[in-house]
Amino acid sequence: MLTPEENERLTRVGPGTPMGSMLREYWLPACRAAKVEAEGAPERVRLVGENFVAFRGSDGRLGFIAEACPHRCASMALARNEGDGLRCIFHGWKVGIDGRCVDTPTEPEERRARFAANVPVKSYPVREAGGLVWVYLGRKAEPPPFPAFEFNTLGEGHVIPRRGLLHANWLQGLEALLDSAHVSFLHRRQLEVPPNGEVRKEVGYMRENGAPVFEFVDRPYGFTEGALRTQANGDCYARVREVALPFFSFIPVAPSWPGVVVCAIPIDDEWTAQWYISFNAREKLDPTWMTQFNRDAGDPDYFNSDMGTIDTMWNQDRAAMKQGHWSGIVGKGNAYEDFVVQESMGPIVDRSKEFLGACDVVIVRARRMLQAALDRFEAAGEAPFLTGDVDFASIRALSFTYPVGQDWKEIEAATLAAAAE
Ligand code: FES
Ligand SMILES: [Fe+2]
Repeated sequence: MLTPEENERLTRVGPGTPMGSMLREYWLPACRAAKVEAEGAPERVRLVGENFVAFRGSDGRLGFIAEACPHRCASMALARNEGDGLRCIFHGWKVGIDGRCVDTPTEPEERRARFAANVPVKSYPVREAGGLVWVYLGRKAEPPPFPAFEFNTLGEGHVIPRRGLLHANWLQGLEALLDSAHVSFLHRRQLEVPPNGEVRKEVGYMRENGAPVFEFVDRPYGFTEGALRTQANGDCYARVREVALPFFSFIPVAPSWPGVVVCAIPIDDEWTAQWYISFNAREKLDPTWMTQFNRDAGDPDYFNSDMGTIDTMWNQDRAAMKQGHWSGIVGKGNAYEDFVVQESMGPIVDRSKEFLGACDVVIVRARRMLQAALDRFEAAGEAPFLTGDVDFASIRALSFTYPVGQDWKEIEAATLAAAAE
């Protein structure tokens, strides 16, 4: 559990808050890159309690500025995209792609250029990778090294990002991604009716042993979690998750499968963008691959738009539960079940009211690491987990079986080495 003060410190992300200041020091996924069309409508983006617009010029370059016009704060999402910048529809002031004010046509002509040059515009470094637009909202003149995760190095068709919107604080979103213990319960339906042959085998291991032993290895970027399930036949099933704090959880998958990474990005204190990013370096992804785990409402920017709210109890089907369905969140899949329980805690759960057990060891670990990170950030101004010598591209989560008695870390290293050849 956390005291109310500790909880506030970890959950509040608005401008000037400790966590909000630290999280602004990371590159943040803002929106799908395909959403921002050349000369198209500016895309509204809300992140860490502030509003922005992303836009693209005729040459494909991206701009990223505060939503409020630097003149009198009309929304720049309404602005005209002139190909080399956005022109506010209110009084015609124009901001270039590089974030400089380049025209203020309401000013007298003789001083217009000088006046425009002095208009302060809030503009931010922006990158495109992994099918996403990424932004740096921090205070440093030089943004941190870009997280060159494998999915950020892949070309079109090899990576597919989809976003769910969660009406809950970002830490609830992150904790759900780290909590391996709930799989045998909340997602029991998936365990009982597994999707297909290959997935079925892994699901069988999880069904056979619902109380894995956890082992951890500290990493510069966070930690590796081995969830180890001994099987009746004497083998052990290892699910090795990689956690790249503060946002990313790489889901363990068999070495031949596409990768999946999930992250919880704060929209504001009470809403979270939960990105599910599938990727495959070897071949182009089959877009239907993820649907065996999660069906959804079809909108890649809000795949859970039909999930319902507490007013409808998220469409929980009590009749199906009577007939044996565990969660009653029927016909969708794991992500909906995760979202529903997170939202049911309320927008910012009061962690002073919890009563934690052995299954929560990873949750406690992540909170301690985030608290320590905040301590260091407040003391020295440096956001941890960003050290330059991290080889982000080599971070891969794996699941595999091995004979009991061997070291899962050695098997993991050998499997990764073999996959890299
Ligand atoms: S508010 Fe945008 S130009 Fe006046
Ligand atoms: Fe889950």
